[in-house]
Amino acid sequence: MQHLGTDLARAASVLRSGGLVGMPTETVYGLAANALDVVAVARIFSAKNRPHFDPLIVHLSDWTEVDRVAQAIPAEAQLLWNQLGPAPLTYVLPKRPEVPDLVTSGLDHVAVRIPQLILARQLLATAGVPVAAPSANPFGFVSPTTAQHVADQLGDQVDYILDGGACGVGVESTIVAWPEGRAVVLRLGGIPVETLTEILGYEPEIRTSSSKPSAPGMLDAHYAPGKPVRLMAHGTDWSQVTVPQGIQALAFAANDWVASLTTHGDCAEGAQRLFAALREFAASDYRELWIELAPEVGLGRAINDRLRRAAHRAED
Ligand code: TXA
Ligand code: MG
Repeated sequence: MQHLGTDLARAASVLRSGGLVGMPTETVYGLAANALDVVAVARIFSAKNRPHFDPLIVHLSDWTEVDRVAQAIPAEAQLLWNQLGPAPLTYVLPKRPEVPDLVTSGLDHVAVRIPQLILARQLLATAGVPVAAPSANPFGFVSPTTAQHVADQLGDQVDYILDGGACGVGVESTIVAWPEGRAVVLRLGGIPVETLTEILGYEPEIRTSSSKPSAPGMLDAHYAPGKPVRLMAHGTDWSQVTVPQGIQALAFAANDWVASLTTHGDCAEGAQRLFAALREFAASDYRELWIELAPEVGLGRAINDRLRRAAHRAED
C-alpha cells in the first residue's frame, strides 16, 4: 500500500499504535511517534541513526495540553504563547515525570512545540497523544521540507508520510529556554529573535554554541551536504567573482551573473528555499558550493546559522 498520502486518520492511527509518521509542519517535516510510548520513541532514534544524548521536541495540538508534559511554566513562556499562539517556536519547560527519559535524554526539562501548520495540529488532535518528532532526516543531514524528501531519505523506515505540501517557513523552530530565570535562545529559527525581544521587553541571550551541553543537538557539522560549502559575505559583488567550472555559485538575491536563493533578497523566501537548495547541490555534479550569506537580521540569522554549520568541516 502507498505509504505517502493525505490520509490524516491513517496517520493518526499509526501514531496511536506505536508507528512512525512523517509529519508536515510549517518549519520542516518531523519523524513523529507517540512521546509516551518508549518503544515507539526508540524507533525514532534508530531510524535517524541519532545519538541518544540528543533530546526530542514534544509536539502538542494546543497550549491547553501543555500540562500533560510540563509543569511550573515560566510566566514568560505563557506571555510568548499569548502573543504568538501556534508558531515556529519551541519552549524548554520543566518536565513532568510521565515524559520518558529517552525523549529528554535524561534532562529534567522537555522541549514543547505547538506547530503553526493547521494540518499538523489536526493530526496531533486526532492522534490525541503528545508526539515526539525530530526533523525527519538521517542524523547530521539537511532537514526535509517536502514529503518526498522524507520518502527519499527515510522511506522504508516510516509507516506513513502525511503530505502537507512544501514547508512554508523552511528552517526549524527557534528554541527558547529559561535556565536561570531569563529567556535564552538555544537555536535560531523560524521566529526571529527581534520578535522575542519585542514581546519580552529585553533581548534574550543567544547561546547556540555546540560547546554548551544544554543544546546537545546543535553540533557544528550539522546540515552537511557532504561536499565543501564556502560562505560568501552578504553583499558580495558577483560581477567581480570568477566562478571556476564545477563550482555552483548561489547569490542571495537575483542578479545578472549567477543563480540566486531568492528573487528580491527576502529572508522569508530564503529560509523557505534553503534546505531544498542545499539538497539540490548535494545531488548535483558540482564539487563545491559558493553561497552568499543572508543579512544578519530576522530570519537571516537562522539562515546564516544553518549555512555556517553546512560549511563547517571537522578538522582532523
Ligand atoms: O521545527 C522544528 O523544531 C522541527 C519540527 C519537526 O518541529 N523539529 C526539530 O527537531 O528541529 P530536531 O530534533 O531536529 O531538533 C531539536 C533540537 C535539538 O537541537 C535538541 O538538542 C533540542 O531541540 N532539544 C530538545 N529537547 C531539548 C531540551 N529538553 N533542552 C534543550 N534542548 C533540547
Ligand atoms: Mg534536526
